[in-house]
Amino acid sequence: MTRAAVVLAAGKGTRFRSDLAKVLHPVAGRSLLGWVLSALQPIDLDRVVVVVGHQADDVAREAARVAGDGVVTVHQAEQRGTGHALRTAFEAGALDGVHTVLVVPGDAPLVAGAPLEAMFDAQRGNAAAMMTTVLDDPTGYGRILRDRAGAVARVVEEADATPDERAVREVNVSMYVFDAAAADRQLSRLGTHNAQGEEYLTDIVELLVDDGVAAVAAPPHSVRGVNDREQLAQAGAALRSAMLSQLLRDGVTIVDPATTYVGADCTVAPDAVLLPSTHLEGATHIAERAVIGPSTRLVDTTVDADATVTFTVAVSAVVGAGAQVGPFTYLRPDAQLAERAKAGAFVEVKQSVVGPRSKVPHLSYIGNTVIGSDTNIGAATVTVNYDGRRKHQTTIGDRVRIGADTMLIAPIKVGDDAYTGAGSVVTSDVPAGALAVERTEQRTIEGYAERKRGPDTS
Ligand code: UD1
Ligand code: CA
Repeated sequence: MTRAAVVLAAGKGTRFRSDLAKVLHPVAGRSLLGWVLSALQPIDLDRVVVVVGHQADDVAREAARVAGDGVVTVHQAEQRGTGHALRTAFEAGALDGVHTVLVVPGDAPLVAGAPLEAMFDAQRGNAAAMMTTVLDDPTGYGRILRDRAGAVARVVEEADATPDERAVREVNVSMYVFDAAAADRQLSRLGTHNAQGEEYLTDIVELLVDDGVAAVAAPPHSVRGVNDREQLAQAGAALRSAMLSQLLRDGVTIVDPATTYVGADCTVAPDAVLLPSTHLEGATHIAERAVIGPSTRLVDTTVDADATVTFTVAVSAVVGAGAQVGPFTYLRPDAQLAERAKAGAFVEVKQSVVGPRSKVPHLSYIGNTVIGSDTNIGAATVTVNYDGRRKHQTTIGDRVRIGADTMLIAPIKVGDDAYTGAGSVVTSDVPAGALAVERTEQRTIEGYAERKRGPDTS
């Protein structure tokens, strides 16, 4: 039995009032489409098809990024309804040889694999299975109409429903498993005589009931569609709280879940501590016993065991085991702190290595630099890496003492055990063990204040 999934993702998402296609909007660290495709991953599927239309190229690229190059995209040039979208997939040949087909909307980020799998089971021996749920407020959803015996008879869209039908609280969530041949046959019979003038996929239910349509009940939270930004924010809150609950069960301390944001593709090891207002984004990885926050944003950053990172912003950085970062530190791409290194207050590091146990404690800029081990960089040191046209490299050895307020004009090398005098502008290489000092002699003018005041005339 060949099984395929079709994700309907061609729509614009008019209610978002956005230039960006709805399914590309990010929520809790992934796009809406990314969440749906990730939910499909544990299911045994031979093929994943995504129907694209609005911003087709971008949506197709996102689909391939999340689900791999094997994903099949079908172009629905005009969005003539959910039924038309599925018909387009059949007509494009994307479902040739497929026996059963799962259909999911691209705008249901909370969906999980297990209830979808349950629909495959329920479909066996029937033309279709569909997921339904009961909502306190069913506004906006298609309503499930059942016959006297309690079997599903048809679906009526809100815009087409009578007041009595609108009172029904059991709704369609746009997730179905079809016998592919049966669906293919009936899709060509869908009309457009309805309030929206569209080919409704929901109308296929009535056409298939005689051959059996099983209903599978799902908990409301898992199948809600996202049609506007309020629902996007609600979905984000639900996804976030689920992720934080998982981390708490895994042994992570989260002091204030209400202000902690952990993206879907982040990992946090047991006994790590996330202090309030911590934002972990992208592929950020936090190791055992690391303490992050408060007020810290880490993007695509790795923090090794026992490190502390406080009041910091870091992007594509690596913080070694036992290293200390912050407060008020900016680690830019390719900043690498080795074990027990330090980047302290008002320090910016970019594309540089700070070696084991080396320290940049205060008010410094380190760019395009390699620092060895056990070196100390005095306060307010700048690696002057940019001549207005190109970036140049600074190399600083082991056990070096860079004096406060040193300007290291790159390209430049400072050898092991060398010193620079505070306030020096260092323009040529400093050999190992040497002191480089560049200062004019101090002038001291005695009695200056009194002279400036002038004679006392009172
Ligand atoms: C649909 C269902 C409704 C259900 C609701 C659940 C229909 C007619 N209605 O309504 O019964 O309660 O979902 O959330 O099916 N799409 C395309 N091509 C199109 C039209 C839509 O790919 O031509 C895609 C959209 O991008 C979206 C999904 O199909 O991801 C659902 O479309 P949407 O317009 O959100 O349908 P609803 O009005 O929510
Ligand atoms: Ca929808």
